[in-house]
Amino acid sequence: MNYIKAFAPASVANVACGFDIFGFAIQEPGDIVEICRRDEPGIVITDITGDDGRLPRSADKNAVTVVMLHLLKHLGINDFGCEVVLHKNMPLGSGMGSSAASAVAGVIAMNELLGNPLSRKELLPFAMEGERIASGSAHADNVGPSLLGGFVVIRSYNPLDIFTIPVPDDLYCTLVHPDIEINTKDARYILRNEVSLKNTIAQMGNVAGLVAGLMKSDYDLISRSMVDVIIEPVRSILIPEFKEVKEAALKNGALGCSISGAGPSMFALSKGLENAKQAGDAMQKRFAEAGIEASTHVSAINMQGAAVLND
Ligand code: HSE
Repeated sequence: MNYIKAFAPASVANVACGFDIFGFAIQEPGDIVEICRRDEPGIVITDITGDDGRLPRSADKNAVTVVMLHLLKHLGINDFGCEVVLHKNMPLGSGMGSSAASAVAGVIAMNELLGNPLSRKELLPFAMEGERIASGSAHADNVGPSLLGGFVVIRSYNPLDIFTIPVPDDLYCTLVHPDIEINTKDARYILRNEVSLKNTIAQMGNVAGLVAGLMKSDYDLISRSMVDVIIEPVRSILIPEFKEVKEAALKNGALGCSISGAGPSMFALSKGLENAKQAGDAMQKRFAEAGIEASTHVSAINMQGAAVLND
């Protein structure tokens, strides 16, 4: 095969209490990467759509091709040549796992073109290199779910220990993206390095509660556990109307609501599609009342993750 087209979905990282350790993918939107062999060696980005010309076009600077270069180096392949087209289908700096989706679609496409030498899980460290180039930190809570699907838990980064847990069938995500941009690097920079023992205890309780709640389909426990006492109080100041939008979600059927990844997108989890839609309408309306345009995606948890789209 000389041509591969791959899709990788947007994702919600942190999921309230699990900074850098929880994430799940949604169905849509997602980035698409097309990759085509060429005779001369070297990776060339021939086109990027949907980014208003903002992403780097050089292969050693763009997350989508950096992951391919790392993969080729690891496999000891020096003379490989291909052309790459990236279709960005989500805004940059949105908190929707935008750079992760590009990196995952890139690594999946390259692995497929090479005849699948590595498993999905083995591709993860390469996808994480895409995050490093995009945000300065090789976290896995967006690339993990976008690549593997499901609700992902990263127990450890060194060594990397990542697994998925079951979620209730009737769990839906509402993702609302206000039309502002937050750079992940900046949103990480403002975080404090020290955490009090009191907050650590509260956060550990919520992390344990959310995992148990999801695995036991205990919606009340999920709801009680979607509390972040460490990151949200700091980052929420970057999101206009955060408190009001969160309140609107909770009053309109959501189990919980917090910042999606580094923001500014906000997400809610709800029992059932109707509650998820209702929460989304209320959240978007609240942003609109403050003069902020927002777009909403309602989706079940994506259990498949990235996919090769060739017929
Ligand atoms: N866990 C990361 C963060 C996700 O919150 O900074 C954003 O890419």
